[in-house]
Amino acid sequence: MTAASPNSRPDVAELLAFYASAGVDEALEDAPVNRFAEAAPKPAERMPSVAPSDSRAPERPAARPRLDASAVPNAPPARPPISAVPDEAQAALARQLASAASTLDELRQHMSTFDGCNLKFTAKNLVFADGNPDASVMLVGEAPGRDEDIEGLPFVGRSGRLLDRMLAAIGLDRTSVYIANVIPWRPPGNRTPTPHETEICRPFIERQIELVKPKVLVNLGGPSAKTLLNTSEGILRLRGNWRAHTTASGVVIPAMPTLHPAYLLRTPAHKKLAWRDFLEVKAKLRALTSP
Ligand code: URA
Repeated sequence: MTAASPNSRPDVAELLAFYASAGVDEALEDAPVNRFAEAAPKPAERMPSVAPSDSRAPERPAARPRLDASAVPNAPPARPPISAVPDEAQAALARQLASAASTLDELRQHMSTFDGCNLKFTAKNLVFADGNPDASVMLVGEAPGRDEDIEGLPFVGRSGRLLDRMLAAIGLDRTSVYIANVIPWRPPGNRTPTPHETEICRPFIERQIELVKPKVLVNLGGPSAKTLLNTSEGILRLRGNWRAHTTASGVVIPAMPTLHPAYLLRTPAHKKLAWRDFLEVKAKLRALTSP
């Protein structure tokens, strides 16, 4: 950048380059605008919120009203709401959409149109699945992280690379397994999904399992095991023991809870435990698929 005297006008290109390097990437207006005041709803205009199923439930802050972009000339296309209100009505809608899907493609379509989970609005992509939908083994993790959110695929970051090596150790890869998560949208900052978010997303992963019909399910980590095996036991107790996942239509699928690859990266001494669990999976598959 050439030196400019304090009173000279800065070179516009240099100024823009400075803004760009500082992360300023949108031109707004000269004067600040109080959008909160602008958007404050008049009582009669309040969003018709979905009534909480329990009227004794504590009140939630009112959802932000959506501005009608079509009423503003040259307005950018309307964005999705910043936050949806997670409640039982959304979980019921998720159940309805999930059970109406008769194929994985339909399920993916229904999930991408579903607006009832907050996490969707901070995530870049729906992380639906990777691998082979005809596989005998389905692995289910907790929720996508940053790399998965960017690519729209589960387990593609560091823990995914470890998972690939663990699979390779028992002769499997992404052409012979199917991989998904309990939560298909990245929680902001990789925070733990709330129980409510998990309940809202649960019907989707349950239907996904039902449609894939794996012979064996592998729960990667405590949240996957607790959600899909209906237990509150900790993963260190659960792991290594066969459990059962029962689908909505009553099909019982053997399930092996094991340690999450992200945990193994932090606690490499426990890799031997996961190795034992994966050997169990290999033996079970052999028993179930050999003539
Ligand atoms: N951790 C998970 O549980 N799932 C992913 O897809 C990535 C990391």
